[in-house]
Amino acid sequence: MTTMTLDAAGQTGAAQPKTVERETVDTQRKVTETVGRPLCDNAKLRMRNVNVFYGEAQAIHNVSLDIGRNEVVAMIGPSGCGKSTFLRCLNRMNDTIEGCRVEGELTLDGEPIYGPKVDVVPLRARVGMVFQKPNPFPKSIYDNVAYGPKIHGIASRRAELDEIVENSLRRAGLWNEVKDRLDKPGTGLSGGQQQRLCIARAIAVSPEVILMDEPCSALDPIATARIEELIDELRENYTIAIVTHSMQQAARVSQRTAYFHLGHLVEVNDTEMVFTNPQHELTEAYITGRFG
Ligand SMILES: Nc1ncnc2c1ncn2[C@@H]1O[C@H](COP(=O)(O)OP(=O)(O)OP(=O)(O)O)[C@@H](O)[C@H]1O
Ligand SMILES: [Mg+2]
Repeated sequence: MTTMTLDAAGQTGAAQPKTVERETVDTQRKVTETVGRPLCDNAKLRMRNVNVFYGEAQAIHNVSLDIGRNEVVAMIGPSGCGKSTFLRCLNRMNDTIEGCRVEGELTLDGEPIYGPKVDVVPLRARVGMVFQKPNPFPKSIYDNVAYGPKIHGIASRRAELDEIVENSLRRAGLWNEVKDRLDKPGTGLSGGQQQRLCIARAIAVSPEVILMDEPCSALDPIATARIEELIDELRENYTIAIVTHSMQQAARVSQRTAYFHLGHLVEVNDTEMVFTNPQHELTEAYITGRFG
């Protein structure tokens, strides 16, 4: 599939400027509301009329979406369409970006995520995140995983921590590679190993929701398969939102898929339906490789 990068205004430099210009106009006209099934009955996360701005530029336009308990929702769409921006709203990671403003109603278990009394530290323990680029702490492999359980008071005794560390590393598919060097720096691992370390770190605090932003982009097919298995396993107890550029991955791991286009949520539906019978022409153009 060809890849075309859009900037905030939906412009692109070289290839096919005419097509993109038409798509941009069409998007504003056609995406007044989301097609398909964006809401669900057993929502863990509810987002209503979410708008996100970076300074004057609007990156997310009026998005409403539920993510259910024990559900994996995949978020797909061309580069720059707002997937990471939207994901970061869900645990207030956008708070850390200067000039970023989030509007709308977002709740976790019915409680506001952006309420004045919300403490973001416990919020981020409940809604964990795995970033596209692995970002281990400058600490040992062991401490990278043990840090969260320690500061959140989940475990303090060495034996308890040992168990959480081993269990989290096993589930992330990294234990065998690191069990003899747990005291070595996490930053000394390969990129793919670092990503699995960050996944182990995220699950070590038993979050209720896990946000994953292209978690497998640095992983080989074996590690990717292990992470996909883990996602399936985690779904029994948790809620997961995963951004991915791989439609195969979205199809393998998710129950519903959300297609974003230039900051609009164009379509959400059962994953199989999105890939076999998309309802919106922009979704169809993307999944058939005609756009994006
Ligand atoms: N920190 C920032 N400051 C200003 N604008 C930003 C910032 N982060 C993202 N944007 C803009 O917001 C829009 C959405 O970006 P975002 O990173 O959410 O897209 P994405 O769908 O995750 O793309 P990709 O697939 O390339 O990761 C883009 O136009 C981008 O330029
Ligand atoms: Mg992104």
